[in-house]
Amino acid sequence: MLFNHQAIQSWHESYPAPNLHAPSVFNLMTDSIPKLQDAPPYDAIFTANTLHIIAWPLVERLFELVGEALPLDGKLIVYGPFNENGHYTSASNRQFDSSLRQRDSNSGIRHKEDIIALAKQHNLELSYKYQMPANNQILVFQKITAN
Ligand SMILES: C[S@@+](CC[C@H](N)C(=O)[O-])C[C@H]1O[C@@H](n2cnc3c(N)ncnc32)[C@H](O)[C@@H]1O
Repeated sequence: MLFNHQAIQSWHESYPAPNLHAPSVFNLMTDSIPKLQDAPPYDAIFTANTLHIIAWPLVERLFELVGEALPLDGKLIVYGPFNENGHYTSASNRQFDSSLRQRDSNSGIRHKEDIIALAKQHNLELSYKYQMPANNQILVFQKITAN
């Protein structure tokens, strides 16, 4: 079992809830969004601090999979740092971006405009955006078509 799954599993055991499923392994390179047995379609999908870590083709795959998995009005909620109008939003984001790219040239802070355009290709429309501490943002996308 993955290290962070062990932690999630122990939280589960401490706070059991009938509507909380066990953690499952999901690799964007190989997997589709897990279908939960006897569960209704997803209302929302949340991802934090992934779009600047994974390579751009995997970002594209994430939006493709989420576009397929979400029903009409379903939400995709994305947390992390984003560039705006082609610029870093802070000196610390510029430094963070450079450290990401040194570690993995496929990583990097994404341009919000590119994410919004990609989302549109999968019928996901930006409905809300929240400025968060430490130069992060929450972007809420809404599915505008039924599958
Ligand atoms: C910076 S961590 C973010 C962890 C946590 N969401 C957070 O906000 O603290 C980046 C996450 O991207 C996930 N990740 C990297 N490559 C992935 C892939 N190919 N498929 C799915 N997740 C991936 C890693 O498992 C890791 O949990």
